[in-house]
Amino acid sequence: MQIRDANDADIAGITAIYNDAVVNTAAIWNDTQVDIDNRRLWLQDRRKLGYPVLVATNDHGEVVGYASFGDWRAFDGYRHTVEHSVYVRNDQYRSGIGKALMVELIERARAIGKHAMVAGIEAGNAASIRLHEKLGFQQVGLLPQVGTKFGRWLDLAFLQLLLDERTDPDSKPAA
Ligand SMILES: CC(C)(COP(=O)(O)OP(=O)(O)OC[C@H]1O[C@@H](n2cnc3c(N)ncnc32)[C@H](O)[C@@H]1OP(=O)(O)O)[C@@H](O)C(=O)NCCC(=O)NCCS
Repeated sequence: MQIRDANDADIAGITAIYNDAVVNTAAIWNDTQVDIDNRRLWLQDRRKLGYPVLVATNDHGEVVGYASFGDWRAFDGYRHTVEHSVYVRNDQYRSGIGKALMVELIERARAIGKHAMVAGIEAGNAASIRLHEKLGFQQVGLLPQVGTKFGRWLDLAFLQLLLDERTDPDSKPAA
C-alpha cells in the first residue's frame, strides 16, 4: 500500500468510494450520489486552499482509501482548525488503511501550522470512533438527533486532536 497526494487519475476511485458511503453507510449524511466532475471540483478546491487530498493505493494502483481536510468553519478566528474525513474501500476495511491515511494527514496538518483537527462522526460509527481514539483524538461533544438517514435520527460525536502546544496562536509552531 502507498499513501500519496491524489492526482486526476484517482478521481474515479475517490468518487466510487464516496458514493458507496452515501448509499450504504451513515458516515456521509447525504442521500445524493456525486459524479466525477463533482469530485474533480472538490479536489481543485482543496488544492487551491493548499490542503491535501491523500489516497491510499494498492499494488495494482487502485484507490483503496482517501482522506482530506478543509476549514472547520469559515470565520477568520477558526483559521488554525480543520475538519477532516477518511474513507476506505469497503472490501478493504480493517487492514490498516484508514490508520495509515490518518497518520499522514495529521502530519500534513502539523506541517502547515494547523493547531486543531476536528472529526464529526456519527455516534454509532464504532470503527471510526475507535480509529480516532487510537490516534489520540478525544470526544469533546455529542449532539443528539441533529441528523437523519435511513429513517432514523443520527447523533453527531465531535472528536478533537490538538496538534501542538503553542500558547500564541500566531507564533510559528516548534519544528
Ligand atoms: C472508519 C474507517 C475509515 C476505518 O478504516 P480502516 O482502514 O477500516 O481501519 P484500520 O484498519 O486502519 O483500523 C485502525 C484501528 O481502528 C479501529 N477499528 C477499525 N475498524 C474497526 C471496527 N470495525 N470495529 C472496531 N474498531 C475498529 C481499531 O482500533 C483498528 O486497529 P486494530 O485493527 O489494530 O484493532 C473505515 O471503516 C471506513 O471507511 N468506514 C466507512 C466510512 C467512514 O465511516 N468514514 C469515517 C467517517 S468519520
